[in-house]
Amino acid sequence: MGGLVVVVGSANADLVVPVDRRPGPGETVLGGDTRVLPGGKGANTAVAAARLGAPVRFVGAVGSDQFGDLVLASLTGAGVDVTGVRRAERPTGVAYIAVTPDGENSIIVSPGANADVRPEDVRLDGAAALVASLEVPVPVVEHAVLAAERAGVRAVVNLSPVAILSERVLAVLDPLVVNEHEAAGLGNLLALGVRSAVVTRGALGADVVTAEGTTTVPAPKVEVVDTTGAGDAFTGALAVALANGDQLVDAVRSAVKVAALSVTLPGAQPSYPTQERMNRSANSRP
Ligand code: RIB
Ligand code: NA
Repeated sequence: MGGLVVVVGSANADLVVPVDRRPGPGETVLGGDTRVLPGGKGANTAVAAARLGAPVRFVGAVGSDQFGDLVLASLTGAGVDVTGVRRAERPTGVAYIAVTPDGENSIIVSPGANADVRPEDVRLDGAAALVASLEVPVPVVEHAVLAAERAGVRAVVNLSPVAILSERVLAVLDPLVVNEHEAAGLGNLLALGVRSAVVTRGALGADVVTAEGTTTVPAPKVEVVDTTGAGDAFTGALAVALANGDQLVDAVRSAVKVAALSVTLPGAQPSYPTQERMNRSANSRP
C-alpha cells in the first residue's frame, strides 16, 4: 500500500453526447444518445488514483440528488474514502460534454454544489500528497495548498480551469500541472514561482519543467476514442507515483501511460485503468 493521496476538487455528472461537429452561435445540431457518467476533475483524479491501488481521500461536495448518488457510487466503487464529501443544498455539478469523432470534447460546467466546498472540509492527516484542481472555489485550493506546506505534504495543483493563485501558494507547487492550451496563456511557467511544472501535450506526451531544464516524456501511440478526463487520469497517476516517493520524471512516465490507456475507452472515470490493466498492457508491448 502506497502513501495516502488527498484530492480536493469537483464532482460532476457528465452528460455526454456524441456530435459530428460543434454547433456555431444560433445553430442547432443533432447528436447521438446521451450517456450520464460520473465525472468532475476532482472525482476523476481520485478515481484514477484509487484504480491504481492507492489509498485516496476525496474532499468535495455534491447535492442531495441522484447525480450526487451516481458520483458517490463511482468513488466508493473505486475504493475512495468519501467521508470528506459534503452534501450541499444545491444540485450536484453537471458537465455538458459534446464529443466529436476525433475524440475531442467541448465542455460546459454548471458547478452547483461544487461552489459549496469549504476550506474547513480539507483534512490532510496521514497524507503523502495533496492534489487540487480548480472547479471548486479558489480559497479552498489555496487553503489546502498552504495546509499541505505546513504539514510537509507534497502539493500538486492541476490548474484547470485556469485561475489566479497567490504567489505564496504558487511557490509551494511541485508540480503545477497544465495542458498545452492552458500553458500557452500562462507564459514562462517557472516565472510563476512554482518549484516545478508539467505540461501535458496529448499524443505528444508531457514536458517536465524544472530549474535544470525541460524533459519531454513521450506517450505511447494509442487509438483515440475519447480524451475527456485524460488530464485528470494523468494527474491522479502522477500523485500516486509521487506519494510513493518516485522522482518527478519517473512519475510523469507512469502518468502518460495511464492517460494514454484512458483515451482508448469512452468517458472519463469508466475508462481509467486498474494497475492490473496497466501491467497487462506493459507486457503486451514488444
Ligand atoms: O476533465 C474532464 C472533466 O471536466 C469532466 O469529467 C467534466 O465533469 C469536467 O469537470
Ligand atoms: Na476516456
